[in-house]
Amino acid sequence: MNTYITTPIFYVNAQPHLGHAYTAVVADVYHRFNLLRGARARFQTGTDEHGDKIAAAAADNNISPQAYADQISAMFRECWPLLEVKPDNFIRTTDSAHKQVVGRVLQRLYEQGDIVFSDYSGLYCRGCERFLTEKELDNGLCPDHQTAPEEVTESNYFFKMSRYQEWLIEHIEVNPQFITPARYRNEVLSFLKEPLEDLCISRPTSRLTWGIPLPFDDNYVTYVWFDALLNYLTGLGYDPDGESGPLFNDFWPVAEHVIAKDILKPHAIFWPTMLKAMGVAPYQRLHVHGYWNINDTKMSKSIGNVVRPQDLAADYGADAVRYFMLREMSFGLDASFSPEVLIKRYNSDLANDLGNLCSRTLAMVKKFTNGRIPDQPGTADELDEGLITAAVGMIAEFEGHMADFSFHLALRAVWEVIGLANRYIVENAPWELARDAARRPRLEAVIYNLLETLRLIALPLHAVMPATAARIFAILQIEAAPDLSAQGKWGGILRPGLETTLRGALFPRLDDKGRKQEMPLKSGSRKKVKDKEEQGLDFDEFQRLDLRVARITAAERIPKSKRLLKLTVEAPEIRTIVAGIAESYQPDEIIGREVIIVANLKPVKLMGVVSQGMVLAARDKDGRLILSTVAGTVQPGSKVA
Ligand code: ME8
Repeated sequence: MNTYITTPIFYVNAQPHLGHAYTAVVADVYHRFNLLRGARARFQTGTDEHGDKIAAAAADNNISPQAYADQISAMFRECWPLLEVKPDNFIRTTDSAHKQVVGRVLQRLYEQGDIVFSDYSGLYCRGCERFLTEKELDNGLCPDHQTAPEEVTESNYFFKMSRYQEWLIEHIEVNPQFITPARYRNEVLSFLKEPLEDLCISRPTSRLTWGIPLPFDDNYVTYVWFDALLNYLTGLGYDPDGESGPLFNDFWPVAEHVIAKDILKPHAIFWPTMLKAMGVAPYQRLHVHGYWNINDTKMSKSIGNVVRPQDLAADYGADAVRYFMLREMSFGLDASFSPEVLIKRYNSDLANDLGNLCSRTLAMVKKFTNGRIPDQPGTADELDEGLITAAVGMIAEFEGHMADFSFHLALRAVWEVIGLANRYIVENAPWELARDAARRPRLEAVIYNLLETLRLIALPLHAVMPATAARIFAILQIEAAPDLSAQGKWGGILRPGLETTLRGALFPRLDDKGRKQEMPLKSGSRKKVKDKEEQGLDFDEFQRLDLRVARITAAERIPKSKRLLKLTVEAPEIRTIVAGIAESYQPDEIIGREVIIVANLKPVKLMGVVSQGMVLAARDKDGRLILSTVAGTVQPGSKVA
């Protein structure tokens, strides 16, 4: 299986910002995901260096367009590794190989009558670098740039795009995956209901010289979009006149482009019709995402409200930024950026959920099994089964969502297992098992199951958070390269007896200004990290627990489960809680009782039922669970503090 993923090539009229970084991270994550499932995968990004905008920006900076392009292109190239974005190819439209191929494509299309000379007068938007139709204007202004287009009349060369309109409509209709998500496919089909105008592909040198000269008329340079779109082919060694070679043959048939909605038309209309005219098969899929906004306004270099990806990487680390961007934005829709939202997600999902699971599990390994991985247990009880099924099922779910570009759902599936594993610790109370020598085998089984779950969580995360995933694999002493199909199963991979150590927290909590509350220790430091359990709980941490009195209004057994009861409680709102008390209580005997619940746990699914909290209980000396309660009568929903 081969895959080829591309980002737009970014204009070099200003520096990279979060919007560009999102597209680059999405492409990188998809690329790594495909490597993880054993594909031969190629990823290309680059810079778009010709045209009006670049010429104007260079003039503003008093340097030549080439020198200006060199500077800014280098900034993009140097920015990506800071976010762990690792393309196989970084293309520049000023590369001579690219320029040559663009010239040859133009010549062929001219010779075959797809490019013609004609007079044109129209409304030209400098920001979009194209003529706009009256219909596209918003109160006489370009909707994207909020500027009035100029009336321009000149003789130019035109690509006969209209010839391919019918073919394009049919292609989009027969291939529902060609443009996704569906809202953008519908937008394109609706635009195509009107007759297409031919595309002006030249600029007279009297107006612009910074472009690729037309091979058949040196009074003109090539329109920047015609030049730029061809990068997707020139980067594969495409040859319009001969044999294109293995890169093109292997990767063009599987090409997928990622863009934001601002450049839908060039990618969904200009590009496929150009390809059709050239006799090259269309790309496979076009993935269109929404905008990152700041205070409801699109982040953009022309507006100047930009967030620098380099700063984010330095403040939060590449993995946290990558996770945040993919989890926060539903691909296709807009999302809003603020440091507060980032810090909130970082603390809840990374520091609390994943970070805690890791540090708690490894603290237990250190304390109870001498720092070593225990043997794989031969049997599994109901709680174990629940965890195993969820962890293994998550891998398939993750793959399905990633292949669909539903990154936020793929990550949500991983985080459900993290939640379940954290819950598994509480339900098995290893610190109690440790008090009884007879329960040692159970203690070891619980620890093995947690380590194995951690391994299955880290496996898919190699695509999204490569450094964190590699760190977890290193802790677990897994030497083999990550591989979704070979390692996405339960058991047989961890090597019992090997030592595991975590030095420093994976994700130290951040305060509301984004400062780390506990600094990770430098590797090699001799200072010991104290286990959370040994250190005791901070008052702040305790206060985060929402303990409430709840009245049980209904209780029933969960089919096929020996341990679980499904409770309906009033606290004071009605909620469902799944409690592991079926071996200690009959459903009827607890209806009407007041109990204490933890009300702000993240919901988790247990045996198909979503549980919205946890009931507190203590074990008596025979191992029977006794429900907690208050000594007098209080209203359901009262806070316990
Ligand atoms: O259009 N939110 O380059 P460009 C999300 N050179 N993504 C954003 C964004 C935002 N606020 N702002 C920018 C060009 N992007 C052409 C492309 S391709 C053959 C030629 C991202 O530098 C997003 O991917 O203006 C968008 O499509 C792209 O940057 C536009 O980059």
